[in-house]
Amino acid sequence: MHIFRKAAVLGLIAGLGLSGAAALAADDPIATRQAIMSSVGAAAGLGGGMMKGEIAYSPAAGKAAIATAHAAALSFGDFFPAGSDQGDTGAAAPIWEDADGFAAELAKFQAATASAAQASGRSGPADIDAFKAAFGPVLGTCKSCHETYRKKN
Ligand code: HEC
Repeated sequence: MHIFRKAAVLGLIAGLGLSGAAALAADDPIATRQAIMSSVGAAAGLGGGMMKGEIAYSPAAGKAAIATAHAAALSFGDFFPAGSDQGDTGAAAPIWEDADGFAAELAKFQAATASAAQASGRSGPADIDAFKAAFGPVLGTCKSCHETYRKKN
């Protein structure tokens, strides 16, 4: 009982933290979406590292990579208000000029992370093969979106 009450309080604090972050995000959507994409990069580094055998596989780490990518996929699209194509951003003009196309890439990203999250279950994919099956399709979505909607360096 005590633990549950503590969890509720922590949840409340996390909730407050989130609304604080949302208030900041309104001021700097570019920084927010870049930080979200950085977290996707980190999740891909962890997941890819395990898939290549450079990092020992653990179901908990597999679950973390998937959950991070899924949270990012759900939130990323909220941070492209009109006018945020200007500034220090890698976001390319087609995001605003072809909003439907960008929405379609976002939907593919979300569908891939949602099925990975589903496959991940409570304790994460049981072994590296299960992880590859779940996370591989997520990694498959990066390139097609970046090709059109991210500026080339
Ligand atoms: C729906 C489109 C989309 C998908 C899918 C996507 N990205 Fe991105 N990504 C972007 C855009 C747009 C930017 C540039 C954001 C900006 O600079 O404002 C970006 C930027 C990045 C960055 C640089 C972040 C920074 O710090 O500036 C990394 C790293 C990254 N993406 C990794 C990934 C990986 C890994 C995947 C696949 C698992 C992925 N992305 C999938 C659209 C996408």
